Amino acid sequence: MEKGASEASAPCARCGKPAQLQCPKCAELKLPRENAAFCTQDCFRAAWSSHKSVHPKPGALASQQSPEGWKYCLRKGRGRALQLPRFEWTGPLRPYPISKMRVVPDEIEKPDWALDGIPKIEPDSDLQKRVEIAREVLDAAARVIKPGITTDEIDRVVHEETIARGGYPSPLNYHFFPKSCCTSVNEVICHGIPDARKLEDGDIVNVDVTVYYKGVHGDLNETYFVGNVDEASKQLVRCTYECLEKAIAIVKPGVRFREVGEIINRHASMSGLSVVKSYCGHGIGELFHCAPNIPHYSRNKAVGIMKAGQTFTIEPMINAGVWNDRLWPDDWTAVTTDGKRSAQFEHTLLVTDTGCEVLTARLPSSPDVFPWLKP
Ligand code: MF3
Ligand code: CO
Ligand code: CO
Repeated sequence: MEKGASEASAPCARCGKPAQLQCPKCAELKLPRENAAFCTQDCFRAAWSSHKSVHPKPGALASQQSPEGWKYCLRKGRGRALQLPRFEWTGPLRPYPISKMRVVPDEIEKPDWALDGIPKIEPDSDLQKRVEIAREVLDAAARVIKPGITTDEIDRVVHEETIARGGYPSPLNYHFFPKSCCTSVNEVICHGIPDARKLEDGDIVNVDVTVYYKGVHGDLNETYFVGNVDEASKQLVRCTYECLEKAIAIVKPGVRFREVGEIINRHASMSGLSVVKSYCGHGIGELFHCAPNIPHYSRNKAVGIMKAGQTFTIEPMINAGVWNDRLWPDDWTAVTTDGKRSAQFEHTLLVTDTGCEVLTARLPSSPDVFPWLKP
């Protein structure tokens, strides 16, 4: 660590305060000053584990400095004649020399691989970790559910567990939603507002948690039994759980988003249940809700096909009676029009090359609240 030699010093790369110190390694390698300046030794030390990745690895520079195209395909053989490597060429086309790597001016902001060819902050590398805290928060809520507790107390647990982990409860003030999670009891389909009502023996309650943490939203929900619940409600909740499982099972690159609704409708209607149409799964990530829109009902007109790297939710709402919904005068609480019960489960998914990763999957520590999951 040394004092910067020059006059116009960049701000501290960690905290943005005025900086006079410069990373010695960056100076030696003549790397851009804006990533190399630090205000104090402490800031430099704190930034080191992430900062050191800006120093190109030995050998990386060499390949960057001889960027003629041969290395990709053509080799200089003996007598300096160009030789093609052995390969079963599939058509008449052959590779030709590739010209030198073109230059991008210094003042243009560059992605992290521009210098040494190595992408360091792979966009989704720790997505699982970042979304997992939403699961931990939901599990904490699940543990306090019992007859007599109010949905407001569930909301308090969600709020406190979220901020204790350094997250923001995404619903809070989202389009003026007044609470930190949604709690949807019995005939409430979704977006129920936590309030002073005590849960009663025999209720079912969905808790929907979304946490904004390190720049991304993770969204999941589950429907829980309060005390002893009637057989029809058990069937409804289990079938809804299975609808989500079956939908997740078809997720992979190339599948049409509109297929999700076919799978869910098939399973729900088999049990004489109906699928809500007004609320859909959604793209999620840096935004809470974005494209694609993913209906859960059949013969939907969802646009697009799944691609690796996409993140979205599937969150079927299944009704014991008719599919139709109505809004309470609070403009949030969606209820079934016939007053019969509704259940929901939701996961945030990441499409991979071969299928998908359930970013909000249950953890070994998740409470054992669903009898069909017991070993
Ligand atoms: N978590 C819900 C979803 O699954 C959205 C809740 S928005 C709120 O999309 F404002 F009601 F919180
Ligand atoms: Co959602
Ligand atoms: Co949700």
